[in-house]
Amino acid sequence: MDVIIQPTAARAEQLAAAIIAKALRAKPHLVLGLATGRTMEGVYGHLARLHREEGLDFAQCRTFNLDEYIGLGSGDPGSYRHYMREQLFRHVNLLPENTHLPDGLAVELDAECEAYEARIRACGGIDLQLLGIGRDGHIGFNEPLSALRSRTREKGLTRATREQNAAMFGGNANKVPARAITMGVGTILDSRRCLLLADGAEKARILALAVEGPITSMISASALQLHAHCTIIVDEAAASELEGTEYYRWILANEPEWAEFR
Ligand code: GLP
Repeated sequence: MDVIIQPTAARAEQLAAAIIAKALRAKPHLVLGLATGRTMEGVYGHLARLHREEGLDFAQCRTFNLDEYIGLGSGDPGSYRHYMREQLFRHVNLLPENTHLPDGLAVELDAECEAYEARIRACGGIDLQLLGIGRDGHIGFNEPLSALRSRTREKGLTRATREQNAAMFGGNANKVPARAITMGVGTILDSRRCLLLADGAEKARILALAVEGPITSMISASALQLHAHCTIIVDEAAASELEGTEYYRWILANEPEWAEFR
């Protein structure tokens, strides 16, 4: 795991976008795992700009989102399909048939979860999975006690998560669906590379626990310590409770992998 500290949230978003763009240029048929939430908006803004100004080509790219609320159709403004359309899909040349999110309206939820896993496998697995972190340490919607080997499945959301995500529902946590379909922790760990982005002081404590604390299903992001190629990008505020920052800064300043991003 590498922890890359950037001076501001804007620089952290820019770096995440640059890493994704590099991966896409190297492999035009990249299978890209996508995340939602406020943190990702800047990343998608940069990707849209790179498409517009530098011709970053998504024509062959396939995408898989981490999660979707149960009970919301793609036209619902609270749905993650709607979020993705507004933040990224309509700004780049992704083919609609190459964008995948779980179907929150599926009648047979277990079958939909199995089919989602099968679709990921049929595309050859996820090359690069973008991740945020919830206040309770979740990745995707893998709430506390999610099995570290879990696969795509239905999950009930904690009160804290529904409060965190209330902004998309007029600020009313009760209007946030209580259940979602989410890739499992095991599904996420199967991706070839993970890229987690976190900013702001309110993420500092949970990020330090996830990165430097013990691996525990209470904090699903801590499972990323098991991943062979995981990069955590944070701004100074989110890095403020980490203990190993001196070493993390040395890595960014000295390791050849990071030379082009310094
Ligand atoms: C939701 C998503 C997570 C995301 C989290 C963080 O809960 N399911 O994948 O990491 O939001 O959201 P924000 O970036 O708004 O803090």
